[in-house]
Amino acid sequence: MENADVVLIAAPMYNLTVPSTLKAWLDHVIIAGRSAGPGSSVAGTPVYVVASRGGSYEPGTPREGTDYVRNYLTAVLGGTLGMEVDFIVPELTRAHLHPAMAGLVPKAEASRAKAFEDAVTKGKAAARRVA
Ligand SMILES: Cc1cc2nc3c(=O)[nH]c(=O)nc-3n(C[C@H](O)[C@H](O)[C@H](O)COP(=O)(O)O)c2cc1C
Repeated sequence: MENADVVLIAAPMYNLTVPSTLKAWLDHVIIAGRSAGPGSSVAGTPVYVVASRGGSYEPGTPREGTDYVRNYLTAVLGGTLGMEVDFIVPELTRAHLHPAMAGLVPKAEASRAKAFEDAVTKGKAAARRVA
């Protein structure tokens, strides 16, 4: 990570937060006096997080306020490591699979299209930064 120009993290939501494998990796790369805290060896490195989730946690939804992916990763990647964090968030990825979510399929498709669009825009911006 210290040698990376840009970091890309896949962070599907598992039980409202990040998968345990991602948490384990973070516990290995967050090192006090090296990557963490003042003079962080990764300070300023852009990090893009694809935070996919089966449901929606946006304002106005029943699950608003229970997304512990974005706030946690913002705190550790941005706060502890001093990286520049940005998110791409495909939501409602399970809508096609659950009959109870059938009415949400158009929103799921819109979210997927927006995520692809964001990936292109942010990917190009990242490429310009390191060119
Ligand atoms: C163990 C497990 C727990 C999950 N927990 C949640 C959850 O709390 N909230 C949610 O919206 N989706 C949850 N999901 C659905 C995933 O976030 C969703 O399928 C996501 O799209 C998976 O990422 P991927 O499409 O990048 O593979 C869970 C999936 C698994 C396998």
